[in-house]
Amino acid sequence: MKLKSIIFAFATFSAAGAYAQAPIVIKFSHVTTADTPKGKGAEKFKELAEAATKGRVKVEVYPNSQLYKDKEELEALQMGAVQMLAPSLSKFGPLGVKEFEVYDIPYILPSKAALQRVNEGPVGKSLFKKLEPKGIVGLAYWDNGFKDMTSNKPLRVPADFRGQKLRIQSSKVLDAQMRALGANPQVLAFSEVYQGMQTGVVDGGENTPSNIYTQKMHEVQKYLTVSDHGYIGYAVIVNKKFWDALPGDIRTALEGAMAQATTYANHIAQQENDAALDGIRKSGKTEIITLTPQQKAEWRKALLPVQGAVAGRVGKDLIDAFNREAAAAEAVK
Ligand code: LMR
Repeated sequence: MKLKSIIFAFATFSAAGAYAQAPIVIKFSHVTTADTPKGKGAEKFKELAEAATKGRVKVEVYPNSQLYKDKEELEALQMGAVQMLAPSLSKFGPLGVKEFEVYDIPYILPSKAALQRVNEGPVGKSLFKKLEPKGIVGLAYWDNGFKDMTSNKPLRVPADFRGQKLRIQSSKVLDAQMRALGANPQVLAFSEVYQGMQTGVVDGGENTPSNIYTQKMHEVQKYLTVSDHGYIGYAVIVNKKFWDALPGDIRTALEGAMAQATTYANHIAQQENDAALDGIRKSGKTEIITLTPQQKAEWRKALLPVQGAVAGRVGKDLIDAFNREAAAAEAVK
């Protein structure tokens, strides 16, 4: 009897020991290559999180849609098949959180300073609150950059867009934007864009230089217009059940790692995009078009009405809040 209880106590102790040593695994899935602002941010988070938790947490990063494509990854997060993602802000509509599409309104963020005010202030926090009923916690906003248009036809003025089939992310605001220019928008997952362009399923699309370059879209697109008409950024999100169940000290360490990884990701985003645009130029495969002030004014005239047209979808108060933050950022310039 005595021996039995000693064996039992020992077995329980070993099991507890083994359990305590097994690291908590965070699967972090995303759709861009490792060599992008998001890819580098994810790797930085892994490095910092594993160091801060002294190996009690292991972060496995799966880039380039190798686990899941755009829509699937959000479903996988909700089911707990992965714990962390960083989808672009344009991809939350299918989840039922359409307010994030406010970021897709053309020209709504005139500068990185305006973006910072929105993301780091009460507006960014209120958007994250909307994810919680979906079983998701928003941890941080990561930057990518302003978008350019690409196609096999030069796109200089809105009239050039007529009849063009252009790939968009799954955002109704982006759909409205392309229609305002006279194009036919087509939703494709990010992982399908290169092939869609190569085979002519779409004529072109819009993206940041870093995404265009790392997916080699420039090899199947003849023209790139430096338009900066809109923005791509990310919400780093985590499964709420998983996050809430973490030991408090671990969660605090991960929050610290995320804050540092965010500073890093946001710091490198602009230079990554500048280098990518340079790479595209040097490849000689895509002609880079710079718009004249007159052409820029034509784009604005065609695109500014989108803001009013989508107010019913994303919310007028939210649009007003964005405009207020943008004006405040301009005022301190
Ligand atoms: C896209 O689908 O074009 C982008 O959102 C991809 C990304 O994650 O940057």
